[in-house]
Amino acid sequence: MVNDTYIKNHYKRIAESYGENGLSTIKDQVIRDAEMIFFVDQIKDILNQSKNENPTLLDIGCGNGFLLKTISENFPSIKLTGLEFTPELFTIAQERKLPNCVVYNGDAREPLPFEEQFDLIVTERTIINLLSWKQQALAFQNIYKHLRPGGFYLMSESFKESWTLMNMARKEFLLDEIPISKHNVYLSESGIKSMKKIGFEEIQGVHPSNYLSTHFYVTRVLHPAIRPDGAKVTHTQFAKFFNQALPVGIGNYSPIQFRVFQKPLS
Ligand SMILES: C[S@@+](CC[C@H](N)C(=O)[O-])C[C@H]1O[C@@H](n2cnc3c(N)ncnc32)[C@H](O)[C@@H]1O
Repeated sequence: MVNDTYIKNHYKRIAESYGENGLSTIKDQVIRDAEMIFFVDQIKDILNQSKNENPTLLDIGCGNGFLLKTISENFPSIKLTGLEFTPELFTIAQERKLPNCVVYNGDAREPLPFEEQFDLIVTERTIINLLSWKQQALAFQNIYKHLRPGGFYLMSESFKESWTLMNMARKEFLLDEIPISKHNVYLSESGIKSMKKIGFEEIQGVHPSNYLSTHFYVTRVLHPAIRPDGAKVTHTQFAKFFNQALPVGIGNYSPIQFRVFQKPLS
Protein backbone atom coordinates (compact mmCIF):
# COMPACT_ATOMS: atom_id res chain seq x y z
CA MET A 1 0.00 0.00 0.00
CA VAL A 2 1.40 3.36 -1.05
CA ASN A 3 1.74 5.79 1.87
CA ASP A 4 3.04 9.24 2.76
CA THR A 5 6.65 8.01 2.81
CA TYR A 6 6.27 6.75 -0.76
CA ILE A 7 4.89 10.15 -1.86
CA LYS A 8 7.66 12.03 -0.06
CA ASN A 9 10.38 9.76 -1.51
CA HIS A 10 8.91 10.11 -5.01
CA TYR A 11 8.98 13.92 -4.83
CA LYS A 12 12.37 13.96 -3.07
CA ARG A 13 13.82 12.23 -6.15
CA ILE A 14 12.03 14.76 -8.39
CA ALA A 15 13.44 17.65 -6.33
CA GLU A 16 16.95 16.19 -6.71
CA SER A 17 16.60 15.62 -10.48
CA TYR A 18 14.75 18.77 -11.54
CA GLY A 19 15.41 21.51 -8.96
CA GLU A 20 13.58 24.68 -10.06
CA ASN A 21 12.86 23.31 -13.57
CA GLY A 22 9.35 23.71 -14.99
CA LEU A 23 9.32 20.05 -16.04
CA SER A 24 9.50 19.01 -12.37
CA THR A 25 6.38 16.80 -11.79
CA ILE A 26 5.35 16.76 -15.49
CA LYS A 27 7.53 15.73 -18.42
CA ASP A 28 5.07 16.76 -21.12
CA GLN A 29 5.76 20.42 -21.91
CA VAL A 30 2.41 20.82 -23.72
CA ILE A 31 0.55 19.89 -20.54
CA ARG A 32 2.59 22.24 -18.37
CA ASP A 33 2.12 25.11 -20.86
CA ALA A 34 -1.64 24.45 -21.01
CA GLU A 35 -1.87 24.46 -17.22
CA MET A 36 -0.12 27.85 -17.10
CA ILE A 37 -2.54 29.20 -19.75
CA PHE A 38 -5.51 27.92 -17.73
CA PHE A 39 -4.39 29.39 -14.39
CA VAL A 40 -3.21 32.74 -15.80
CA ASP A 41 -6.26 33.34 -18.03
CA GLN A 42 -8.72 32.25 -15.34
CA ILE A 43 -7.11 34.44 -12.66
CA LYS A 44 -7.06 37.39 -15.10
CA ASP A 45 -10.76 36.93 -15.79
CA ILE A 46 -11.61 36.75 -12.07
CA LEU A 47 -9.53 39.82 -11.20
CA ASN A 48 -11.00 41.81 -14.11
CA GLN A 49 -14.43 41.27 -12.60
CA SER A 50 -13.45 42.25 -9.07
CA LYS A 51 -12.69 45.56 -7.40
CA ASN A 52 -10.23 43.88 -5.03
CA GLU A 53 -6.87 45.70 -5.27
CA ASN A 54 -5.05 43.36 -2.86
CA PRO A 55 -6.04 39.86 -3.92
CA THR A 56 -4.63 36.82 -2.12
CA LEU A 57 -3.90 33.34 -3.48
CA LEU A 58 -2.96 30.02 -1.89
CA ASP A 59 -1.27 27.24 -3.94
CA ILE A 60 -1.73 23.92 -2.12
CA GLY A 61 1.00 21.45 -3.09
CA CYS A 62 3.10 24.19 -4.64
CA GLY A 63 5.98 21.82 -5.43
CA ASN A 64 9.14 23.70 -6.44
CA GLY A 65 7.11 26.90 -6.81
CA PHE A 66 7.00 26.96 -10.62
CA LEU A 67 3.29 27.84 -10.76
CA LEU A 68 3.73 30.44 -7.99
CA LYS A 69 6.55 32.02 -10.03
CA THR A 70 4.35 32.17 -13.14
CA ILE A 71 1.50 33.76 -11.15
CA SER A 72 3.90 36.20 -9.48
CA GLU A 73 5.29 37.33 -12.86
CA ASN A 74 1.81 37.83 -14.33
CA PHE A 75 0.11 39.32 -11.26
CA PRO A 76 2.63 41.22 -9.10
CA SER A 77 -0.21 42.63 -6.95
CA ILE A 78 -1.37 39.21 -5.71
CA LYS A 79 -0.18 38.28 -2.21
CA LEU A 80 0.92 34.66 -2.63
CA THR A 81 1.06 31.77 -0.18
CA GLY A 82 2.38 28.29 -0.97
CA LEU A 83 1.90 25.09 1.02
CA GLU A 84 4.12 22.09 0.27
CA PHE A 85 4.30 18.64 1.87
CA THR A 86 7.67 17.36 0.57
CA PRO A 87 10.49 19.07 2.51
CA GLU A 88 12.93 19.11 -0.45
CA LEU A 89 10.40 20.79 -2.78
CA PHE A 90 9.32 23.18 -0.01
CA THR A 91 12.98 24.30 0.32
CA ILE A 92 13.31 24.92 -3.43
CA ALA A 93 10.05 26.92 -3.50
CA GLN A 94 11.11 28.94 -0.44
CA GLU A 95 14.59 29.62 -1.84
CA ARG A 96 13.09 31.24 -4.94
CA LYS A 97 12.33 34.16 -2.61
CA LEU A 98 9.44 35.26 -4.83
CA PRO A 99 8.27 38.80 -4.05
CA ASN A 100 5.05 39.06 -2.04
CA CYS A 101 5.12 35.31 -1.35
CA VAL A 102 5.34 33.11 1.77
CA VAL A 103 5.80 29.34 1.57
CA TYR A 104 4.89 26.89 4.35
CA ASN A 105 5.79 23.25 4.85
CA GLY A 106 2.46 21.55 5.61
CA ASP A 107 -0.20 19.00 4.77
CA ALA A 108 -3.41 19.70 2.81
CA ARG A 109 -5.29 17.14 4.95
CA GLU A 110 -4.41 18.72 8.32
CA PRO A 111 -5.38 22.06 9.85
CA LEU A 112 -3.29 24.57 7.87
CA PRO A 113 -0.54 26.55 9.64
CA PHE A 114 -2.54 29.81 9.24
CA GLU A 115 -6.11 31.04 9.75
CA GLU A 116 -6.31 33.27 6.66
CA GLN A 117 -9.07 33.02 4.05
CA PHE A 118 -7.99 33.58 0.44
CA ASP A 119 -9.60 35.09 -2.66
CA LEU A 120 -8.17 32.29 -4.78
CA ILE A 121 -6.95 28.75 -4.05
CA VAL A 122 -5.26 26.61 -6.71
CA THR A 123 -4.16 22.98 -6.91
CA GLU A 124 -2.10 21.55 -9.76
CA ARG A 125 -2.27 17.72 -9.63
CA THR A 126 -2.08 17.78 -5.79
CA ILE A 127 -5.46 16.35 -4.75
CA ILE A 128 -4.71 13.20 -6.80
CA ASN A 129 -1.61 12.68 -4.62
CA LEU A 130 -3.94 12.06 -1.67
CA LEU A 131 -4.48 8.37 -1.95
CA SER A 132 -8.11 7.86 -0.91
CA TRP A 133 -11.35 9.76 -1.36
CA LYS A 134 -11.44 10.23 2.44
CA GLN A 135 -8.11 12.11 2.33
CA GLN A 136 -9.15 14.07 -0.77
CA ALA A 137 -12.38 15.11 1.00
CA LEU A 138 -10.35 16.40 3.98
CA ALA A 139 -8.36 18.59 1.58
CA PHE A 140 -11.54 19.89 -0.09
CA GLN A 141 -12.98 20.76 3.34
CA ASN A 142 -9.76 22.64 4.12
CA ILE A 143 -9.91 24.47 0.78
CA TYR A 144 -13.52 25.46 1.44
CA LYS A 145 -12.69 26.68 4.94
CA HIS A 146 -9.78 28.80 3.68
CA LEU A 147 -11.69 30.41 0.80
CA ARG A 148 -13.38 33.69 1.59
CA PRO A 149 -17.10 33.78 0.69
CA GLY A 150 -17.22 34.57 -3.04
CA GLY A 151 -13.66 33.21 -3.49
CA PHE A 152 -12.60 30.82 -6.28
CA TYR A 153 -10.94 27.39 -6.31
CA LEU A 154 -9.13 26.51 -9.57
CA MET A 155 -8.03 22.93 -10.12
CA SER A 156 -5.95 21.04 -12.67
CA GLU A 157 -6.58 17.47 -11.51
CA SER A 158 -7.09 14.06 -13.16
CA PHE A 159 -10.40 12.23 -13.49
CA LYS A 160 -11.25 8.52 -13.80
CA GLU A 161 -14.03 8.98 -16.38
CA SER A 162 -11.86 10.69 -18.99
CA TRP A 163 -8.93 8.34 -18.21
CA THR A 164 -11.33 5.42 -18.96
CA LEU A 165 -12.40 7.03 -22.24
CA MET A 166 -8.77 7.56 -23.30
CA ASN A 167 -8.08 3.87 -22.65
CA MET A 168 -11.24 2.82 -24.55
CA ALA A 169 -9.90 4.78 -27.53
CA ARG A 170 -6.54 3.03 -27.17
CA LYS A 171 -8.25 -0.38 -27.01
CA GLU A 172 -9.81 0.24 -30.44
CA PHE A 173 -6.23 0.18 -31.78
CA LEU A 174 -5.28 -2.81 -29.56
CA LEU A 175 -3.07 -0.57 -27.42
CA ASP A 176 -2.50 -1.47 -23.75
CA GLU A 177 -4.17 0.51 -21.00
CA ILE A 178 -2.12 3.42 -19.63
CA PRO A 179 -2.18 2.71 -15.89
CA ILE A 180 -2.68 5.32 -13.16
CA SER A 181 0.65 5.77 -11.40
CA LYS A 182 1.01 4.50 -7.84
CA HIS A 183 1.31 8.00 -6.39
CA ASN A 184 -2.09 9.06 -7.77
CA VAL A 185 -5.78 8.37 -7.09
CA TYR A 186 -7.93 10.05 -9.72
CA LEU A 187 -11.03 12.06 -8.88
CA SER A 188 -14.44 11.14 -10.26
CA GLU A 189 -17.69 12.94 -11.02
CA SER A 190 -19.11 11.49 -7.80
CA GLY A 191 -16.29 13.33 -5.98
CA ILE A 192 -17.44 16.55 -7.64
CA LYS A 193 -20.98 15.86 -6.38
CA SER A 194 -19.55 15.50 -2.85
CA MET A 195 -17.68 18.81 -3.30
CA LYS A 196 -21.03 20.41 -4.07
CA LYS A 197 -22.37 18.98 -0.80
CA ILE A 198 -19.49 20.73 1.02
CA GLY A 199 -20.79 23.95 -0.56
CA PHE A 200 -18.68 24.50 -3.72
CA GLU A 201 -20.50 25.73 -6.83
CA GLU A 202 -18.90 24.72 -10.12
CA ILE A 203 -18.73 27.56 -12.65
CA GLN A 204 -17.85 27.72 -16.35
CA GLY A 205 -14.17 28.55 -16.78
CA VAL A 206 -12.70 30.75 -19.52
CA HIS A 207 -11.22 27.59 -21.03
CA PRO A 208 -13.13 24.32 -21.36
CA SER A 209 -12.44 21.67 -18.71
CA ASN A 210 -11.43 19.26 -21.53
CA TYR A 211 -8.83 21.74 -22.92
CA LEU A 212 -6.14 19.00 -23.14
CA SER A 213 -8.37 16.37 -24.78
CA THR A 214 -7.09 16.91 -28.33
CA HIS A 215 -3.48 16.66 -27.13
CA PHE A 216 -4.19 13.43 -25.26
CA TYR A 217 -6.00 11.84 -28.23
CA VAL A 218 -3.17 12.78 -30.60
CA THR A 219 -0.28 11.74 -28.32
CA ARG A 220 -1.78 8.85 -26.34
CA VAL A 221 -4.03 7.25 -29.01
CA LEU A 222 -3.39 8.31 -32.61
CA HIS A 223 0.39 8.56 -32.56
CA PRO A 224 1.05 5.24 -30.74
CA ALA A 225 -1.47 3.55 -33.07
CA ILE A 226 0.48 4.42 -36.23
CA ARG A 227 4.00 4.99 -34.91
CA PRO A 228 6.55 2.59 -36.41
CA ASP A 229 8.54 0.47 -33.92
CA GLY A 230 11.56 2.34 -32.64
CA ALA A 231 10.30 5.78 -33.72
CA LYS A 232 10.46 8.86 -31.49
CA VAL A 233 7.77 8.86 -28.78
CA THR A 234 7.78 12.27 -27.09
CA HIS A 235 8.10 15.87 -28.28
CA THR A 236 7.38 14.79 -31.86
CA GLN A 237 6.69 16.91 -34.92
CA PHE A 238 3.56 14.71 -35.30
CA ALA A 239 2.15 16.01 -32.00
CA LYS A 240 3.26 19.56 -32.79
CA PHE A 241 1.54 19.43 -36.20
CA PHE A 242 -1.79 18.08 -34.95
CA ASN A 243 -1.83 20.31 -31.89
CA GLN A 244 -1.60 23.28 -34.27
CA ALA A 245 -3.94 21.84 -36.88
CA LEU A 246 -6.78 20.86 -34.54
CA PRO A 247 -8.72 22.96 -32.05
CA VAL A 248 -8.15 22.30 -28.34
CA GLY A 249 -10.75 20.42 -26.33
CA ILE A 250 -12.13 17.82 -28.75
CA GLY A 251 -13.76 14.90 -26.93
CA ASN A 252 -13.10 13.90 -23.33
CA TYR A 253 -9.83 11.97 -23.59
CA SER A 254 -7.67 13.96 -21.18
CA PRO A 255 -7.51 12.59 -17.65
CA ILE A 256 -6.30 16.07 -16.61
CA GLN A 257 -9.19 18.52 -16.45
CA PHE A 258 -9.31 22.23 -15.68
CA ARG A 259 -12.26 23.05 -13.38
CA VAL A 260 -13.36 26.17 -11.53
CA PHE A 261 -15.42 26.41 -8.32
CA GLN A 262 -16.76 29.25 -6.22
CA LYS A 263 -17.67 29.48 -2.54
CA PRO A 264 -21.07 31.17 -2.45
CA LEU A 265 -21.30 34.60 -0.84
CA SER A 266 -23.72 33.35 1.80
C1 LIG B 1 2.12 17.71 -9.20
S1 LIG B 1 2.90 18.45 -7.88
C2 LIG B 1 2.53 20.17 -7.95
C3 LIG B 1 3.36 20.93 -8.88
C4 LIG B 1 3.53 22.38 -8.56
N1 LIG B 1 2.27 23.12 -8.58
C5 LIG B 1 4.54 23.01 -9.49
O1 LIG B 1 4.40 24.18 -9.85
O2 LIG B 1 5.49 22.31 -9.87
C6 LIG B 1 1.93 17.95 -6.52
C7 LIG B 1 2.52 18.42 -5.22
O3 LIG B 1 1.65 18.08 -4.15
C8 LIG B 1 2.46 17.83 -3.03
N2 LIG B 1 1.68 17.07 -2.04
C9 LIG B 1 1.47 15.74 -1.98
N3 LIG B 1 0.74 15.43 -0.90
C10 LIG B 1 0.49 16.60 -0.26
C11 LIG B 1 -0.22 16.95 0.94
N4 LIG B 1 -0.78 16.02 1.69
N5 LIG B 1 -0.28 18.25 1.28
C12 LIG B 1 0.31 19.22 0.53
N6 LIG B 1 1.00 18.94 -0.60
C13 LIG B 1 1.08 17.65 -1.00
C14 LIG B 1 3.63 17.04 -3.60
O4 LIG B 1 4.73 17.04 -2.71
C15 LIG B 1 3.88 17.78 -4.90
O5 LIG B 1 4.81 18.79 -4.75
